Amino acid sequence: MTEKDSSELTPFEIFFQKIEKFSKLHMKDRDRVQEILQSMQKAGSKTLQVISDFDMTLTRFEYNGKRCPTCHNILERSDVISSDCKKKLQGLLDKYYPIEIDTTLSVEEKLPLMVEWWTKAHELLVNQKIKKDGLAKAVRDSDAKLRDGYKDFFDHLHEHSIPLLIFSAGIGDILEEVIRQSDIFHPNVKGVLKAFKGELIHIYNKREGALLNTGHFQELRTQTNVLLLGDSLGDLNMADGVQDMENILKIGFLNDKVEERKQSYLDSYDIVLIKDESLDVPNAVIRFLT
Ligand code: C5P
Ligand code: MG
Repeated sequence: MTEKDSSELTPFEIFFQKIEKFSKLHMKDRDRVQEILQSMQKAGSKTLQVISDFDMTLTRFEYNGKRCPTCHNILERSDVISSDCKKKLQGLLDKYYPIEIDTTLSVEEKLPLMVEWWTKAHELLVNQKIKKDGLAKAVRDSDAKLRDGYKDFFDHLHEHSIPLLIFSAGIGDILEEVIRQSDIFHPNVKGVLKAFKGELIHIYNKREGALLNTGHFQELRTQTNVLLLGDSLGDLNMADGVQDMENILKIGFLNDKVEERKQSYLDSYDIVLIKDESLDVPNAVIRFLT
């Protein structure tokens, strides 16, 4: 087949060529991705909602060669908690994070261990009796960083009144503080983010978390097209509560253990972004759809 002259390309082809040029972008089935995108575009931006994980999806995994903190890490590394508590939390991280990303264990095998991690960390943090202004300070002092292009992402969704659900197993109060301090906590942002109160959400029970939030999804019943962003295979269940879903485009960030996990990410996410610290691809998709 001869290549088309760029003047003959449709807007869709121009857009798709552009995203395919991202060297960090991988797809198992590009025809399927094209189909989903075209169908979503046809349906129009009024039918779109975005569901995103927070830690290591909206926030960066690395900056200048150094790991960036999760919501939990922001607290763990801050001076609002005692050094004894810090040590214990670090011990938990060293024990359980390798399990989270272990490719030789099934979700069923990991599940009880993840509950154990979240519960133990939670107990330690609650005992520290942290005050609201302590949380704000912890965030201000931290190295937390939203991915490059975050402002465009949040502002554009807001301008086009597209609902954004942040579905996090992190610490809700910290998450809110991060987005508030970055000036992007717009009214279209909602969260399923329980930590110090309510149900325990860990990375592998997002399905249950989604199904508990029927009210939210009921309100959005005309938004039947979903853009889902995540960094863990557990994030794939975040849209399980969406009613009458027509299309879903799943974009996954693969940040760590790339070689071991690449195939499973390609099998589960429509688009996989490998070691990409930006929101450029989600932003290009959103711009195309709005
Ligand atoms: O927002 P998200 O669902 O990604 O939050 C979960 C993340 O929090 C996981 O990537 C996990 O590694 C991290 N975590 C942590 N410390 C804990 C519990 C979870 O850093 N005590
Ligand atoms: Mg995450």
